[in-house]
Amino acid sequence: MSRPDLLQQTRRYYNGKLAEHGPTARGVDWNSEQSQRLRFRELTRLVEDEPDASVLDYGCGYGALRTYLRERGHRGRYVGFDISEQMIDAARAGASDEAARFSAVRETIEPVDYTLASGIFNVKQTASDDEWRRYVLETIEDLAAVSTRGFAFNALTQYSDPDRRRPDLYYADPLKLFDHCKRHISRFVSLLHDTPLYEFTLLVRLPASVADVASAPPVGAPARGTRRAT
Ligand SMILES: C[S@@+](CC[C@H](N)C(=O)[O-])C[C@H]1O[C@@H](n2cnc3c(N)ncnc32)[C@H](O)[C@@H]1O
Repeated sequence: MSRPDLLQQTRRYYNGKLAEHGPTARGVDWNSEQSQRLRFRELTRLVEDEPDASVLDYGCGYGALRTYLRERGHRGRYVGFDISEQMIDAARAGASDEAARFSAVRETIEPVDYTLASGIFNVKQTASDDEWRRYVLETIEDLAAVSTRGFAFNALTQYSDPDRRRPDLYYADPLKLFDHCKRHISRFVSLLHDTPLYEFTLLVRLPASVADVASAPPVGAPARGTRRAT
């Protein structure tokens, strides 16, 4: 299957979920709001020290991550992108936020500091594992291309019980994706795989953001030009 076909199949799938359940966690195919927020907690570790950073929510659904970020004091520009126009309409309707923009057209998205993607790699439907793996790697390239400071995404894990896997879902190998990001994108990668979800999260910091952290004074250090009290 070609990339446009995979995207079209994915768009149709999520439009169906939204039509069935409305702008809710179920409407973007999550079991519960609790699990949706747990995924956000993992992904937003990337931006927790940068409340003014711009964030692209890649596969934003009805925009629940925007609400989550704002509740935690995030002030930076938020851009919601989704291949489903219906999702984008729902996200727009749910946001009266001066610093938020939404789009269903990838070409309209300008580079941002950080990109977060929750749930875009899970449902492969009729694609083969090889086709979907290629699609995942291409999409990771796109996450990297649109981000100047870093990006994060989650995926279902191959460490889930084989007898409980569904044939329409894609279970990624966290170690292979860690290795891929580390070798081809950035040296600064974290693999988080310590929640009860059968999923993992990869945080990829690009060199610009790591250079800033490295040049910041250590916490508790005296400001430049001041003397440490003895
Ligand atoms: C599982 S839902 C999660 C929605 C949202 N991230 C959340 O957690 O509430 C995945 C969403 O990503 C969108 N999506 C899937 N693949 C995408 C892609 N390649 N580009 C943009 N959006 C995508 C779908 O249309 C759907 O709305």
